[in-house]
Amino acid sequence: MKKNELPTLYWKKGQLHLLDQRLLPQKIEYRLCSSYPEVIASIREMVVRGAPAIGISAAFGMALAAREALIKGYNAVEMREYLQDAGALLGQARPTAVNLPWAIARAEKWLRGHLDASEGDIVEGLEQLALLIHEEDLANNRLIGKKGSDLLPRKGSVLTHCNAGSLATGGYGTALGVIRAAVEQGKDIHVYVDETRPLLQGARITAFELEHEGIAATLVTDNCAGHLMATGRVDLVVVGADRIAGNGDVANKIGTYVLAVLAQYHKIPFYVAAPLSTVDLAIAAGKDIIIEERSSSEVTHLNGRCMAPEDMKAFNPAFDITPAKLITAIITEKGVLRQPDRQKVMGLFDL
Ligand code: MRU
Repeated sequence: MKKNELPTLYWKKGQLHLLDQRLLPQKIEYRLCSSYPEVIASIREMVVRGAPAIGISAAFGMALAAREALIKGYNAVEMREYLQDAGALLGQARPTAVNLPWAIARAEKWLRGHLDASEGDIVEGLEQLALLIHEEDLANNRLIGKKGSDLLPRKGSVLTHCNAGSLATGGYGTALGVIRAAVEQGKDIHVYVDETRPLLQGARITAFELEHEGIAATLVTDNCAGHLMATGRVDLVVVGADRIAGNGDVANKIGTYVLAVLAQYHKIPFYVAAPLSTVDLAIAAGKDIIIEERSSSEVTHLNGRCMAPEDMKAFNPAFDITPAKLITAIITEKGVLRQPDRQKVMGLFDL
């Protein structure tokens, strides 16, 4: 979003303010978190969502945990124990996006690197680290946008799924960052926005962001993608990612895999835009990524009203896996990986 518009989250006077994304686009309201359990609840309930945004929130969760320990009067040793528990619990808030454990691992690395730090130093250090993680994410998204925008035509139509925009990240967005950068370069881009059942992140958040930006957009049902492609209305697909395995397989919002299969059939490029913080080299292939299963009621109910027989159970995986072979390129802050594979993914890291 533009400078004067809504931040996904902000840190003020030792408290974390999260835009309550469940209420969008009707209501703009921030939830205030003064303790790490409140951050865990906000991630679980999807007050804040999107892989990079939950990673940044978890980093601030660690900063809040340090403050709580200070208020409880803990010494540095007790504070470290408290932070260890906080890290373990924050890391379990949602299972699929690797940005969450990635951010906690950075906080833990900071602690290991500052073994002599006083209680006050730890509070200050973890707060500064969370602010840095937030800043880095924004800067990486701008780079992703810049590198990815070259892949977009001077004039064309893009299909996107879920929300990989400013509100899923520290700002600017990944998939939407690519679109935003192309429009900033003067390209004439129209976006088809999948509504993204069951929680409608496309309709409620992506459409809202694009409207704010003045980027031409049309909302479609998730079922529309095949028809859009078959009738020549889409030039390319760009989506975000929650976790990228070492071989380039991608976990992203349920329905992404369908789009990749359709794109291949219709010979349309399928791009994934994500920062390196979403790459998990510890996972060899997509089949090993844990897919979050959410409540049946998210599918059976809409706005509190049951849309199915009362006792109907629904299967509600929040994500699916798109195999690397269906991906035209992965766009990262370090460059564009065409036809991603293990060697190219490993090459992103200076190991
Ligand atoms: O369940 P959500 O809304 O957290 O899912 C979000 C997505 O699937 C996004 O595409 C992904 O996190 C990338 S966000 C830059």
